[in-house]
Amino acid sequence: MNYRLAITLLVGLAILISSALLVQTLPAQTKEETNESTQETVTSSSEYPGIDISTEITEQDTFKMAIHSPKVSYSSVNATFQEFIDAEKKAFRDELQQNLEFIPSPHWQSELYITFQTYQLTDTLYSFSFAVESNLAGANGNQKTKAFMIDLASGKLLTLEDLLVTTPEASQQLTEDVFKTLRTTEAYKDYLFKETFQEVEKTIFERGFVTQEGIGFKFNKYEVAAGAAGMPEVLVPLPETLVKDSWKESLTFMPNEEDEEVADAEPIEDPVEKQQPEPSRPEKKVALTFDDGPHPENTPAILQLLHDYNMKGTFFMLGSRIEYYPEIVKTIREQGHEIGNHTWNHKQLPSLSEANMKEEITSVDTLLESVIGEKASVFRPPYGATNDLVESVAGAPTVLWTIDTLDWKSHDPKAILASVENNLHPNAIILMHDIHTATVEGVELVLTYLQEQGYTSVPVSEVLGEE
Ligand code: NI
Repeated sequence: MNYRLAITLLVGLAILISSALLVQTLPAQTKEETNESTQETVTSSSEYPGIDISTEITEQDTFKMAIHSPKVSYSSVNATFQEFIDAEKKAFRDELQQNLEFIPSPHWQSELYITFQTYQLTDTLYSFSFAVESNLAGANGNQKTKAFMIDLASGKLLTLEDLLVTTPEASQQLTEDVFKTLRTTEAYKDYLFKETFQEVEKTIFERGFVTQEGIGFKFNKYEVAAGAAGMPEVLVPLPETLVKDSWKESLTFMPNEEDEEVADAEPIEDPVEKQQPEPSRPEKKVALTFDDGPHPENTPAILQLLHDYNMKGTFFMLGSRIEYYPEIVKTIREQGHEIGNHTWNHKQLPSLSEANMKEEITSVDTLLESVIGEKASVFRPPYGATNDLVESVAGAPTVLWTIDTLDWKSHDPKAILASVENNLHPNAIILMHDIHTATVEGVELVLTYLQEQGYTSVPVSEVLGEE
């Protein structure tokens, strides 16, 4: 998975956009919308100014769902993303409902994952490439893709038709480039279906998305190749001759800052060790743990509370969200809290191939190394779903929990407190989610209670093996 921003600069390919053109043609996806809709709140702490990431995780007896999507300050654009997501959710739920009687037991989990990759092209021009993956009770999975391009200056969704000339020669050239790449790619060449060229050519301008390295195309499973090829994806050069004149003038690809950042990141010295060479280990310890973040508002609020109560927590974070909020991760580490790996996309790991499992885990450690100069010191599998293979791939001790506050279900600070009150024990590992707003207030109640009871929250590594 090319999770990294494809900010590899195509030096010399200075294709420039004129913002005038951005308002010219409404792409198919936006229909008749005016894009004058109300502005939505987007935080300023995102790595991509003007875009937040929204994450929805659902865990039921019969299915698990993890859905990630970008959120911008244009509600009409967000509505377009949401429509796409809602349609996929509905299709999944309908299919699940129809097949419920054939599903052998609650242990046969169905899954729906919607993930996306972000490609920043200029200050305001972005491509998003979505992948929808689902399976019913472990049965052969569906895989679909969908691309969006957006100009944040105007709030317009774009397609290749906005950027390129759309003559029959152009669509043929582009499609030929795509198939040439498919035929020469080791992972796909033996699985390609015959006679899909014309079908692809018909929609070629609707499906491509521009990246810093060229035009990306992704195909649904079974669309151009047998299932063994999964979702084929190719990158073809952006043919300068096809770019509309008006775009050639103002699009300057952003310089590649990514490599410098990686080289610059140095480990953040452990502030706890530095201040207290021999920390006095409190008798009554617990470990507060926060999953599925970081979140641009809730995580800083929880950090403030932990600071106020002089306690430490552990943050099991998703790579997809660390990519958007690296500064928050730095702050977490600088304040002496523990960093946990919670995978990139929150998929149920035992369902994945070993290669995909590794990718979900190691991609987060690679990103953490570039952000804070070190890997995670602990690992928590999504949904607590683990097995021997997961543990061998994890690269850090696997940490589950002993008290589940069910904050994601109740969204009720008092219920969160009650679950701690009713179950508190020395060396407890308490599960919460900093992605939910109600959890912030719950944390304050829990911290007050812990303090009253003479308990201190410490990094989770300090209670491991004692819980
Ligand atoms: Ni989680």
